[in-house]
Amino acid sequence: MKNTVAIYPGSFDPITLGHLDIISRGAKMFNKVIVVVMSNVHKNSGCFTIDERVEMIKKSVSHIENVEVDHFDGLLANYAANKNADVIVKGLRAVTDFEYEFQMALTNKKLNPDVETIFLTTSAENMYLSSSMVKQIASMGGDITDFVPHAIHNDIVKRLKKGD
Ligand code: COA
Repeated sequence: MKNTVAIYPGSFDPITLGHLDIISRGAKMFNKVIVVVMSNVHKNSGCFTIDERVEMIKKSVSHIENVEVDHFDGLLANYAANKNADVIVKGLRAVTDFEYEFQMALTNKKLNPDVETIFLTTSAENMYLSSSMVKQIASMGGDITDFVPHAIHNDIVKRLKKGD
């Protein structure tokens, strides 16, 4: 296979096991995967700072050799061009994700025709997982063990515990 660089973008507020699943599978398919923390205009500034999100992702992927972590404040299509990327990888959870993802993929293709968007189907156990769900459960004292990478479990719990 050709020397492929893939970009996995998201807000990662925080990274979950669903994201880690896509990163691990992507790392087997592509020579390099760059996980990039970006902002979604439809969301507020988020719960964790950009630096915290980057740190948590780094801790979560430290066992995977060909993964880099970065952040970028701008258009994904431009970031992909800067990095000479071949592919944007996204995880598709349910049919409800499809229309929005399709719109983003077509827009990114228009802005940067050199990059292809590839969708990986989310594993069944992560189908209904989201960063918002993790934040809600942790802030109410629930158990998030099955939802977040082991390496950052305590960081999230400590940070979101009520009263902190
Ligand atoms: N497993 C479990 N959960 C997953 C998942 C998976 N495989 N993939 C995504 N999710 C969750 C995320 O945690 C997120 O949860 P939340 O809404 O509770 O935070 C939700 O699904 C949506 O994720 P995603 O579709 O990746 O959106 P995002 O907000 O994380 O990221 C950007 C969107 C940042 C990639 C997009 O807005 C972007 O490209 N921004 C840059 C600016 C730009 O170029 N705009 C034009 C785009 S056309």
